[in-house]
Amino acid sequence: MRKKIIAGNWKMNKTVEEAVELANAIKISLADCSEVDVVLCPPFTAIKAVSDVVSETLINVGSQNMSSEDAGAYTGEISATMLKELFVRYVILGHSERRQYYKENDFWINKKVVKALAKNLRPILCVGEMLADREAGNTEKVVEVQVREGLKDVPASAYTDLVIAYEPVWAIGTGKTATSAQAQEVHAFIRGIVADMVGKDAANAVRIQYGGSMKPDNAKELLSQPDIDGGLIGGAALDAASFIGIVKAGL
Ligand code: 13P
Repeated sequence: MRKKIIAGNWKMNKTVEEAVELANAIKISLADCSEVDVVLCPPFTAIKAVSDVVSETLINVGSQNMSSEDAGAYTGEISATMLKELFVRYVILGHSERRQYYKENDFWINKKVVKALAKNLRPILCVGEMLADREAGNTEKVVEVQVREGLKDVPASAYTDLVIAYEPVWAIGTGKTATSAQAQEVHAFIRGIVADMVGKDAANAVRIQYGGSMKPDNAKELLSQPDIDGGLIGGAALDAASFIGIVKAGL
């Protein structure tokens, strides 16, 4: 049985003060939550403060990006070592907003995934098709390339630490959720690709989250699908009650 993982991607929201308030509100309900892995991914500037809030709880902290390099002249970048110093455990990599607005490509995303694993951080690799891809019948083709390229050179043994997030771009922040059947279909497809790449055991172990307008009222249906192992939550993660509601739906 794969343990469900619910992560809140706060994106470019929350000052330090607001982040502490949100983390404290989540902590009241989820400090001891052991049945689901709970991860909060604040902006870089609030990571330290959020880590302090959740330090003696089972709640994990994640970052929204990470450099592929160890150290040096990379203006504006943050390394794995710097994140680990702040008790970050997970890193979101290859989010569609980074692919779209900052031109991140599979080559660099793969370098980050490999680096994160080498540094004992757990990557959350985001994949997903644009609306035009889906309408043209190219969903599987697009997702397959992102999975194969993003996970190139990742050994089978690493898949227990790795999370894949399927986020159809047309469902992000739009209020349009993939139906549970649409999501399940792609999740099963992704698991099949992993099986082909590194074998059945790794495919059975890897957790695949759904992301895209997940809310407390649709979470249960999505999370009850056999290949949906959690959620990567944007908008609804900015409100403690909504986020807690989604985590509870995963219990
Ligand atoms: P929304 O939940 O706001 O659709 O965002 C999903 C997402 O992009 C999480 O990474």
